[in-house]
Amino acid sequence: MDFSTDYETKADAIADLFASSFTTSEGVEEGALIGALARRLIAETPTEDLRVFTAWEEGMLVGGIFFTRLTYEGDPRTVFMMAPVAVATELQGQGIGQRLIAHGLDALRQEGVDIAVTYGDPAFYGRVGFNPVSEADLPAPQPLNQPQGWIAQSLTDAPLTPLRGPARCVTAFDDPALW
Ligand SMILES: CC(C)(COP(=O)(O)OP(=O)(O)OC[C@H]1O[C@@H](n2cnc3c(N)ncnc32)[C@H](O)[C@@H]1OP(=O)(O)O)[C@@H](O)C(=O)NCCC(=O)NCCS
Repeated sequence: MDFSTDYETKADAIADLFASSFTTSEGVEEGALIGALARRLIAETPTEDLRVFTAWEEGMLVGGIFFTRLTYEGDPRTVFMMAPVAVATELQGQGIGQRLIAHGLDALRQEGVDIAVTYGDPAFYGRVGFNPVSEADLPAPQPLNQPQGWIAQSLTDAPLTPLRGPARCVTAFDDPALW
């Protein structure tokens, strides 16, 4: 498996992967929403606030993850949110998702990012180091429909201590339907 961080020349393939993977798992409406989100994240997010990691096998895109900056007004630490995450439907359950996430987290760690947050199934993301956090300790940029899915990890030796908000996300995530 090869990893890439190039998203500018691969935007169409990446958006198609997210649309198709989420359409199969969550339905047509969610597939369209997440495909459009992937497109907007690439088109509208300043480079310094976006990291995209993709996994390729024999020239085919098999997985992708986005990280975008969360800014905490009262806290100097660097925080990135991992979302969305997708693996090609026919290749799910083979470890690609976990390898890609571990690769992305390693890259952020090497870059000096302090904290990674995500919003999803704690059982799956627990396997790659995420643990549940409260909105009081780690404020979310929008009200959470599923607060049990708000999970985070420290990427440094320092323990994950509460972050002082308010929290701000990149503009493509400024949509209550995504939270
Ligand atoms: C969730 C997802 C990224 C995992 O990638 P993957 O390559 O299939 O995962 P891995 O093979 O590394 O890990 C397998 C584990 O993931 C979990 N898993 C797999 N598919 C899952 C799904 N659709 N939802 C939740 N957990 C899932 C299972 O716990 C599985 O463990 P098991 O093999 O012991 O049953 C992938 O299934 C996917 O793209 N799903 C559709 C889109 C989605 O739901 N994305 C996450 C929300 S942002």
